[in-house]
Amino acid sequence: MPANAALRDFLLTRRSVGIGFLKEPGPNAQELRDILLIGTRVPDHGKLAPWRLVVFAGEDRVRAGEKLAQIKRKQNPDIDEASLDAERRQLLPAPLTIGVIFAPRKNEKAPEMEQLLSAGNVCFNLLNGAFAMGFAASWVTRWFSFDPEAQQMLGARGGERFIGFVHIGTPSVTPDDRERPPLESIVSRWPG
Ligand SMILES: Cc1cc2nc3c(=O)[nH]c(=O)nc-3n(C[C@H](O)[C@H](O)[C@H](O)COP(=O)(O)O)c2cc1C
Repeated sequence: MPANAALRDFLLTRRSVGIGFLKEPGPNAQELRDILLIGTRVPDHGKLAPWRLVVFAGEDRVRAGEKLAQIKRKQNPDIDEASLDAERRQLLPAPLTIGVIFAPRKNEKAPEMEQLLSAGNVCFNLLNGAFAMGFAASWVTRWFSFDPEAQQMLGARGGERFIGFVHIGTPSVTPDDRERPPLESIVSRWPG
């Protein structure tokens, strides 16, 4: 019997839930605080905390969506109304979204790649934190994680970039498992 059977079972079966299936209610302030504490409790070579988090909740999601639509329209004046509407809904319907920013620090011992991995762990642990608090979640990037103007509007500063948006809510579906690579195809024993 493993020391923590509940944790084992969770880790063996956990699944993200698509953002279209994340509904109200979302985390309250105390639950969000726990999710943020869990999310940022990650391995971090040099204790640099090379990450920052931006919370999008309530009406802010609507305002951010409107600004994303404005950026899209500026970049493509011929864009149709349906596409603009899709942009306005980028942070809906999930009740809460946490944007994770990679904020690299100058450090001799921890190269940027290690810092980026630590930031990726924040995204993944935010998922785990959401599940631990009884919610479901999904980690997505989408175009605004790669567009400099959108990133700045959403909260990234010079030298920083978003590496993910973790959408959190109450699941309206229980997804089937997805295909996973068989261990034999990805694990080998060092041949010596
Ligand atoms: C860095 C990163 C970015 C992703 N971006 C997207 C995205 O923009 N759109 C999307 O549909 N899925 C995206 N995904 C995949 C989702 O997280 C997807 O739900 C995930 O593969 C489900 O796997 P799981 O059930 O094992 O957690 C991304 C995943 C990662 C790691």
